[in-house]
Amino acid sequence: MHIPVLLKEVIDSLSLQEGDVVVDGTLNRGGHSKEICELIGKSGTLIGIDLDQGALDEAKKNLKNAKCKIILEKDNFRNLDKVIAKVGIEKVNAILIDLGFSSDQMDDGGRGFSFGRDEKLLMTLKDNPTEDDLTAREIVNSWDEENIADIIYGYGGETFSRHIASKIVESRKEKSIETTQDLVSVIEKAVPSWYKHKKIHFATKTFQALRITVNDEIGALKEVLPKAIEALEENGRLAVISFHSIEDRVVKIFFKEQKEASVGEIITKKPIAPQREEVKANPRSRSAKLRIFEKK
Ligand SMILES: C[S@@+](CC[C@H](N)C(=O)[O-])C[C@H]1O[C@@H](n2cnc3c(N)ncnc32)[C@H](O)[C@@H]1O
Repeated sequence: MHIPVLLKEVIDSLSLQEGDVVVDGTLNRGGHSKEICELIGKSGTLIGIDLDQGALDEAKKNLKNAKCKIILEKDNFRNLDKVIAKVGIEKVNAILIDLGFSSDQMDDGGRGFSFGRDEKLLMTLKDNPTEDDLTAREIVNSWDEENIADIIYGYGGETFSRHIASKIVESRKEKSIETTQDLVSVIEKAVPSWYKHKKIHFATKTFQALRITVNDEIGALKEVLPKAIEALEENGRLAVISFHSIEDRVVKIFFKEQKEASVGEIITKKPIAPQREEVKANPRSRSAKLRIFEKK
């Protein structure tokens, strides 16, 4: 079960009022949205966006008794402007973007997010990718060695990125890399033995890098931020939770630029991190960082 991260902090910092219109750009099963609905009440509207139809279906069930009006849209949050226009809304009071993927997508998605299982190497947040959608399988079997090494280093921070990319290219000449376990065995052959005894699994960083690339997660974030600011009402707030230093840097720099352009104020001088108790109860929250911006 996915546990919403920094729930109290998000709710407290969005300054929600009865009747507000709120966008949850990463609805998943509605963990944050359930609380948001309580606060905006019967006269409030929640627009929930997610790429994952399965997650939206679960959210519909979980939000069945929620107080507020709910509109669910299967889309990429990078299309935020089009989504709200489509449902006839021009401006909103608050926007939440809780980046990445949920524990449920990892545990029962069957999409190859977890190196602990043997699944097809997809890694798409969409649960029904088409032929045109990039998959991790395509990256490892057809990209140049240098490009593979660059993403593993850039998005995974993996020290052995070059060794791993070289082993991937060597292995795929013999047999294509089709499943998560195929990839895990390739990585295992590329890294030194001491690396396999570390607390963090030796495949973690490569898997993270592939997931970020497959879903163009940094591109989508860069695209949604200006659209979110544009969509906000006066005094409206944008909250972004990131789990990766690159994402957090993108948000930090964007908020700073907006402040310098007198668009509004940064509410979180430093990002809000989870308390020790939250990390203990939900280890997944350990790298979460919440930043909030208020439009003038
Ligand atoms: C961390 S989960 C959100 C969890 C939710 N806030 C909760 O606590 O219940 C992130 C969700 O965002 C979705 N997602 C990630 N990137 C997206 C994008 N660019 N557009 C739409 N949905 C996206 C994922 O499919 C996933 O369901």
